[in-house]
Amino acid sequence: MNQISVFDSPKPAFSAEEAQRLLARDYAVEGRLRELVSERDQNFLVESASGTFVLKIANAVEDEAFLALQNAALKHVALADPELGVQRVAVTTAGEDIARWEHGASRHAVRLLTYLPGELYSAAGSSPALLESLGAFMGRLSHAMRGFGHPAAFRPGFLWNLDEAMAVKPWLADIVPERRDLVARIFARYEARVRPRLHLLRGAVLHQDANDNNIVVDPASSTVTGLIDFGDMTHGRQVNELAVTLAYALLDVADVYKSAAPLIGAYARQFPLEPEEAAILFDLVAARLAMSVCISSHRAKDFPDNDYLLVSQAPAFRLLERLDRTNPDFLAAFTRHAAGHPPVPASTAVVEWLSSPGCQPHAMFGIDLNRAGRILLHLQEGAPGMEHGADPQAYWAWLESRFRQEDAHFAIGLYGEVRSVYKGEQFATAASPEWRSQHLGQDIFIAAGTPLFAPLPGKVLSVVDNALPYDYGPTVILEHRAGENGPAFWTLYGHLSRETLAMVREGQAVAAGQQIGSIGGHTVNGGWAPHLHFQIITDRLGQTGEFPGVGQPSLWPVWRAISPDPNLILRLAPESFVEDKTPPEVLLGRRAQVLGPSLSISYRKKLKIVRGKGTYLYDHTGRAFLDGVNNICHVGHCHPHVVEALARQAAILNTNTRYLHDTILDYAERLGSYFPKPLSVVYLVCSGSEANELALRMARTVTGRRATITLDWGYHGNTNGLIDVSPYKFNRKGGRGKPDHVEIAELADPYRGRFKGYGANRGIAYAASVAEKVELIRAKTGEGPGAFIAEAISGCGGQVFFPDAYLRTAAEHVRKAGGLVIIDEVQTGFGRVGNHMWAHGPQGIIPDIVTLGKPIGNGHPMAAVVTTPEIARAFANGMEFFSSFGGNPVSAAVGMAVLDVLEQEDLQHKARITGEHLKARFQALAEEHSLIGHVRGEGLFLGVELVKDHTTLEPATEEAGRIANFMRDHGVLISTDGPFDNVLKIKPPMAFGLQEADIMADTLNAALKHM
Ligand SMILES: Cc1ncc(COP(=O)(O)O)c(C=O)c1O
Repeated sequence: MNQISVFDSPKPAFSAEEAQRLLARDYAVEGRLRELVSERDQNFLVESASGTFVLKIANAVEDEAFLALQNAALKHVALADPELGVQRVAVTTAGEDIARWEHGASRHAVRLLTYLPGELYSAAGSSPALLESLGAFMGRLSHAMRGFGHPAAFRPGFLWNLDEAMAVKPWLADIVPERRDLVARIFARYEARVRPRLHLLRGAVLHQDANDNNIVVDPASSTVTGLIDFGDMTHGRQVNELAVTLAYALLDVADVYKSAAPLIGAYARQFPLEPEEAAILFDLVAARLAMSVCISSHRAKDFPDNDYLLVSQAPAFRLLERLDRTNPDFLAAFTRHAAGHPPVPASTAVVEWLSSPGCQPHAMFGIDLNRAGRILLHLQEGAPGMEHGADPQAYWAWLESRFRQEDAHFAIGLYGEVRSVYKGEQFATAASPEWRSQHLGQDIFIAAGTPLFAPLPGKVLSVVDNALPYDYGPTVILEHRAGENGPAFWTLYGHLSRETLAMVREGQAVAAGQQIGSIGGHTVNGGWAPHLHFQIITDRLGQTGEFPGVGQPSLWPVWRAISPDPNLILRLAPESFVEDKTPPEVLLGRRAQVLGPSLSISYRKKLKIVRGKGTYLYDHTGRAFLDGVNNICHVGHCHPHVVEALARQAAILNTNTRYLHDTILDYAERLGSYFPKPLSVVYLVCSGSEANELALRMARTVTGRRATITLDWGYHGNTNGLIDVSPYKFNRKGGRGKPDHVEIAELADPYRGRFKGYGANRGIAYAASVAEKVELIRAKTGEGPGAFIAEAISGCGGQVFFPDAYLRTAAEHVRKAGGLVIIDEVQTGFGRVGNHMWAHGPQGIIPDIVTLGKPIGNGHPMAAVVTTPEIARAFANGMEFFSSFGGNPVSAAVGMAVLDVLEQEDLQHKARITGEHLKARFQALAEEHSLIGHVRGEGLFLGVELVKDHTTLEPATEEAGRIANFMRDHGVLISTDGPFDNVLKIKPPMAFGLQEADIMADTLNAALKHM
């Protein structure tokens, strides 16, 4: 800077006539000349017959090597990207790039460049389209210049090289005093953020001066068509090119983000930015502006009359102020996003880890939010409750009354919601007129004082009271790691109680499940109704103690990466976050009309179930209900292995059993292998009813007899033929009683029946009833029954387990009279009873025909009949048996998958262990609650019979109904059944474990206490 600068030397002062004469001499160009504005050289516009040119007469002290550099660069670009709008170099008649003219004692280098038609950017006015076009132009230029080098590009001491930003720092003193601190802060930002990274950045030869008087625009198409004045060229960090362009383009724009994003994006599409460059782009923009005001202030001191130098200072200060008030790490994230990179490099890894099976967050409250009733809140103008929005006490009172009405324990405030409640100045932003209003956390409105537990292990980063109105009040931030070698991330808990401040301290290690605070009331929590603001943070933006809880909606993609969905940790069902347009009350009326009124519906408060997973069902509000009753979704709701098998086969083929198919045969063989010989032939059908129909048809065809013995309270299906053998139907409401061909044997009920207890003598005694019916049929028809049909355990009869030897003895009576024995395992099969795969196993019987349904397909409509080869042969009398859907390849694949899971997850064994525990818990409850008359069952097929009197066994029907409803209201689903509807029926999916068993027993205990 101590050499003679062009600013210390006067501009060339050729007259137009003189220039015209020399131009004709050296370039053989004759035309009209008009002088153009220039800071340091003398330029003329030349309009001639051979074209329009710009004649550039350099300052006398200009280094000619530097002009050679510019010419070389223009020629390079013309070769690399011939379409890109840069000037072409005209040669003298002697073939030179540069002419030399003398003016008095000074010698001037002269160049003639083609003229780029259009308007200057300064006259066109900025628009998003133009900004994008500028970005694309500059990106193309950077791309074209990649391979360019020149010795003169290295300009030690060149003031405008952004790599040397700190060189002008001494001129801070020349800045107006009230702005000095601002510029000093910008330099400090550069020192802290750019300097340490400089050595990592790419270099190139740069134009470095895309200001609005150097950019040529076609106003009609809003595109940048050219760039002139390569006079500030230098070698420097590649990213400086974009930084300088932005420093000019962003002056006095209304919205820095909306202006910068298209420019950066378009630049990066032509010439990708590296993430390290993106990280400091705005620091360089600010540094360039700081340099500019330092230099112009310094020059203004030396040349007090040079107004040109001061022209850009005011807008530069305005932009500097905005950038100074904007978080540089946020600008880095914004830039990465605008340049097509992930806004936060670590964010994806954090999200992946939080979603991985290895991450199992602890519950954050004493209650299980997933299972608790909830209310969805909107904190937007006009939303319910917002009439109390300004008064936290009134809002909470309104919320509590809704909690009572709707059996809810908490309310949800939405992540990502754009809200109208953020009114303090702290929600305004410097770089744009847009306020921060989009919620980056999730709110859990819950009573003040509720303890809060850490969901993940970590350490306390900060615990502070952010006491501004509408701020967080007491706030805890925990630091975590996304797996052993993963990146750090943070969780923020806002609006806590004052007690929280003494509960944890900075640096303290925290275990998952450890209490880290409690919910604050409105007097301490920033003035809000009691709630937790819970937020995940992947980039702290250099902050501690405090962090933005809302962001600008237009910058959501950036904010979302910085603060991903807190539900990654809270893990509420997706339905928790959307208002259901058709809740139960809307569906109920429609259902009765459309589906017909014969269909009953469970519970006093109707359930709309929309999702299932494992042992849980989810209603339309996302509330999870523990499923204690669905024995159809046997291996767990929507088991992924079964779903995958179904989807895979459905995408390949679904036909019927009249074609050959491997899976169908593999499945039939595999299913048959679970039965003792000679049971081995499998008929595949679609429902339990279809299976029982086929079983009866088989028995009647094979024996040539129609008469059938069934058990009292039995239920076998919904067809006419099956209602005829189902006393549960024909002897109850709407039934027409027993048909002539059916006889009802006494239900072998060891609790309520004639013979109490499970001993074999009781079984034999009950079986006498079957023998009686055999004789009755013989007396009526002259021959024995065609079939005896019985459930292995009487489900509709009230989970009645038969005494030992009952089925075996009954079967002997039937077989002696030539009848076949059909055992209905539709409810009970597939390992449910724990010790045995089939519930008839412990009865010591091999049936002639077994029917299977419900659990066989985990909810997919399929069923089966299994019999002996002998019966199968006898049944094949010429009439075909065909079921259109039965045994199709999809069903076969599903059936296989169910067996896979059953085996792989050892579910039969699990049913035994869980069943034993659950039964023991029920038995313990029976000691406490006299309402329990009998606890019975095996594995996960249990019954709890309720009675008012242990001697008379007067059924507690009404109480059973109330208990089932109480349990439903408390998130556990069971049903009632039996002749008096006083038996609590428990037959959950087999994924039910000890934890679920305890939830069920605890809830039953609460229900019994409530009676
Ligand atoms: C023991 C028994 N058999 C047969 C059926 C009829 O099965 P589906 O409803 O699949 O036709 C049922 C249904 O509840 C049942 O419980």
